[in-house]
Amino acid sequence: MDNSNKIAVACDHGALELKSKLVQLLEKLGYEPLDLGVHNYDSVDYPDYAEKVAQLVSSGEAPRGLLLCGTGVGMSIVANKFKGVRATLAHDHYTAVMSRQHNNSNILCIGARVTGEEVAFDILQTWLTTPYEGGRHDKRLDKISALEKKPE
Ligand code: RB5
Repeated sequence: MDNSNKIAVACDHGALELKSKLVQLLEKLGYEPLDLGVHNYDSVDYPDYAEKVAQLVSSGEAPRGLLLCGTGVGMSIVANKFKGVRATLAHDHYTAVMSRQHNNSNILCIGARVTGEEVAFDILQTWLTTPYEGGRHDKRLDKISALEKKPE
């Protein structure tokens, strides 16, 4: 089954409003967002939601993920614990471009308390449409994969 349009999405209570708007944007752009919560403002722990998305990306069930919290920091720390995940926190257009071209980012993290709505829209669309450059970056990503295989 072709899952290339799927994007796993989650947030904590600090980013519910922005998540709803970005899910709408994803639908408008023809993606299939898989909204894994949260759905209300009750206080939750961001690791639980980062785990939901990172697991789907790590297993290949979803090729990409989007994680939102107050700063984006907590979500990125947790997501990068999962094998094969390259989660990147973007605050601006340039970082969104580079995170794809150089890092082949597969999870985008945005901080809802530090990023304006229009900037977040631009970051997401840029991240979705910018291809990985490959070439000299392959060996760097290979080194990241090698670290994941290193015994503790
Ligand atoms: C929740 O208050 C806040 O800590 C969380 O949204 C996030 O910013 C963590 O990195």
